[in-house]
Amino acid sequence: MKIFAIFGNPIKHSKSPIIHKLFANQLNIVQQYEKIYVPINNFNNVINHFFKNGGLGANITVPFKKMAYNICDLLTQRGINSGVVNTLKITKKNQILGDNTDGIGLLKDLKRINFIYKNSNILLIGAGGAAQGIIYPLINFGCTIMITNRTYKKSCHLLKYFNNKKNINIIKIEDINNKKINYDLIINATSSSIKGVIPNISSSIIHSNVFCYDLFYSNKITPFLDWCLYHGAKKISDGLGMLIEQAAYSFFLWHGIMPNTTLILKKFKTNNYF
Ligand SMILES: NC(=O)c1ccc[n+]([C@@H]2O[C@H](COP(=O)([O-])OP(=O)(O)OC[C@H]3O[C@@H](n4cnc5c(N)ncnc54)[C@H](OP(=O)(O)O)[C@@H]3O)[C@@H](O)[C@H]2O)c1
Repeated sequence: MKIFAIFGNPIKHSKSPIIHKLFANQLNIVQQYEKIYVPINNFNNVINHFFKNGGLGANITVPFKKMAYNICDLLTQRGINSGVVNTLKITKKNQILGDNTDGIGLLKDLKRINFIYKNSNILLIGAGGAAQGIIYPLINFGCTIMITNRTYKKSCHLLKYFNNKKNINIIKIEDINNKKINYDLIINATSSSIKGVIPNISSSIIHSNVFCYDLFYSNKITPFLDWCLYHGAKKISDGLGMLIEQAAYSFFLWHGIMPNTTLILKKFKTNNYF
């Protein structure tokens, strides 16, 4: 049996096992995919134990994407570009290969729902592993990104990591209200929704034409999207589409075959697999 798993903390909310089961059924692949809870200071031990015991591939979620990057022997170009990884694979030579499928997964979903254009002006809220993973594909697509985060220092680290590229800027979250910038797309890449709260940010960012995207997903509206609607946004989406797309790119890395994500997204919603 081929064994895969997702590692995170918290992990209870993850829908990745259901999605990978749907992919495997669609493509007649026999595999096992589990959720593994990792104590905060024990990532390296847990992941090494998994690979020593026959694990072939892993997805990595909150808050271990940087740690996962650090244990890789090899990286894909996407992994190199982002500096964090959400997908690991054991190669034939028993090395750990790291990839980042978050960015390409998000971009594919944003295109599907027509939330992004080549020159979109994006406000990215959050500077954790998910935020870092999506920046490169978005700027590479032609967008401009303003990063804001509860902890300003982390925005500075991201700016430095991306080498102060001219289409990335940072702003203190408390200064948002002073700079009247009209964003086309706001992406919430914080983990605040997991705890049912929203980032403490001025509602001046919301207007009726702005697209609001929450990386978090749920069977009901996320707290952040609810807040966006309340302040006048009309076009909102949660991260379910991204979740399925990024999972499909991980599945491709492991099995060399791409699932039909349109069918899986439909199936997920129809069967209310939340
Ligand atoms: N849909 C998908 O496919 C997909 C893919 C990847 C991630 N995600 C989601 O994206 C979110 C972030 O994941 P991650 O891996 O980046 O986590 P992470 O590395 O732990 O980073 C968490 C980020 O959230 C911020 N944050 C946490 N609580 C906050 C609060 N109450 N107010 C304001 N900011 C807060 C943190 O700010 P500080 O720096 O100040 O701590 C940090 O920027 C999670 O909800 C995850 O489920 C979804």
